[in-house]
Amino acid sequence: MTNTMMRRRDGSCEGGRSMDRRGMARVAALGTLAVGLVLLCAAGASAQMDDVDRARRMHDRIAGVPPDDATLQTMATHIGNGRADLAAELAMQNPAFYNVSLKNFVTPWTNEEITVFAPLNDYTATVIGMIRDDVPFNLVLSEDIIYTGANGLVNPNYQQTSNDHYLAMEASGVDLSDPAQLVRRTQSGLPGSQVSTSEAAGVTTTRAAAQAFFSGGTNRAMWRFTSMNFLCRDLEDMNDITRTGDRIRQDVTRSPGGDSEIFLNTCYGCHAGMDGLAGAYAYFEWDENAGRMVHTPGVVQAKNLINGNVFPQGYITTDNSWINYWREGQNSTLDWRGASDRGFGAKSLGAEVASTRAFSVCQVEKVFQHVCFRPPKSQGDRDAIEAIADVFEQNGTYRMKDVFAGVAEHCMND
Ligand code: HEC
Repeated sequence: MTNTMMRRRDGSCEGGRSMDRRGMARVAALGTLAVGLVLLCAAGASAQMDDVDRARRMHDRIAGVPPDDATLQTMATHIGNGRADLAAELAMQNPAFYNVSLKNFVTPWTNEEITVFAPLNDYTATVIGMIRDDVPFNLVLSEDIIYTGANGLVNPNYQQTSNDHYLAMEASGVDLSDPAQLVRRTQSGLPGSQVSTSEAAGVTTTRAAAQAFFSGGTNRAMWRFTSMNFLCRDLEDMNDITRTGDRIRQDVTRSPGGDSEIFLNTCYGCHAGMDGLAGAYAYFEWDENAGRMVHTPGVVQAKNLINGNVFPQGYITTDNSWINYWREGQNSTLDWRGASDRGFGAKSLGAEVASTRAFSVCQVEKVFQHVCFRPPKSQGDRDAIEAIADVFEQNGTYRMKDVFAGVAEHCMND
């Protein structure tokens, strides 16, 4: 705070906004020196100092690095003029927003450990590129899209069978904020691709997601992590024992430990909904030996049929159809607004997920945690999140930078 005071340039007491109560409270906490200054100077200049303070904080939180002096002053002026959104947009022009802040924001979504300590990959790069280029973010689970380094920029170019392209990008310090370096392409157009435009499902069908969530298991993990990362809900939150159970697969015992009550009261609540949805991924597999995602349209991967003897009368996966039983019941509150409650494949399921109000609110909540360094706690926080989600959805723009700007403004006084 002393720093801020020394940074004040014009020393004038005019022209500032009157201080809000929060600002007053903070000044009150500063002790005799600050009180003396306030008495000398009245509220105006202190408000300006506050704006510089807010601007610095906003820049640090958005970009992860401090602003240069010119940027700081411009941001403070915007904030003083009631245009915190313009200040936030300026902070988002710092390359560190893409290379550091967004990378840290997205990386945990791309692995089962939910760790930020992982190299750049095609999933992370694609989300960063979509945010940079204002691609409507509700396409993140359904578009035929991928971001790679520009052709020939690093060695090797994109490979289906390794992450080396992205490792090389990181090693050589490629600037992800630069549209000439990180470029938008189609998954279907990449050499060796096994997905067509009508099958590519945004980050779901990136190599990194396949490695993390299609490897081993029964492909239910892809649903679980899609739900966690894009609906902000884990399976416990979705558990609903009132749904139809006809899609629960054969591998789920109907009497765990000989007790059918346990099945009906626990297993059923997750698997009735989840197994109906995860059918969308039936043609996908991660091939560990080849180091790549495998997609076999029309052919169900064996992992969907394992342990069929556990409950032979259970559901047998025959295609990649999905049905969303969670549109009804307690999970109707997610507000599903998609074209249909059923479909085929990961792409239409991705669109179904992104159609929800829960998706929009979840993106805001994630940014809130990232930018404000805390979860929402007050009714004021909840109201702000809903309002920012409204802006996010407005006219179908789904512009993530609007979310960062709205959230940064909301907590710039914290
Ligand atoms: C809270 C939600 C939830 C409940 C309750 C639940 N499951 Fe699951 N189940 C999952 C998820 C998620 C997966 C996928 C795990 C993964 O692959 O990471 C799974 C996977 C499975 C699998 C496949 C295991 C494999 O090889 O990957 C079986 C079998 C199974 N569950 C049986 C049961 C039984 C039996 C019960 C009740 C005793 C039960 N589940 C309760 C969510 C649930």
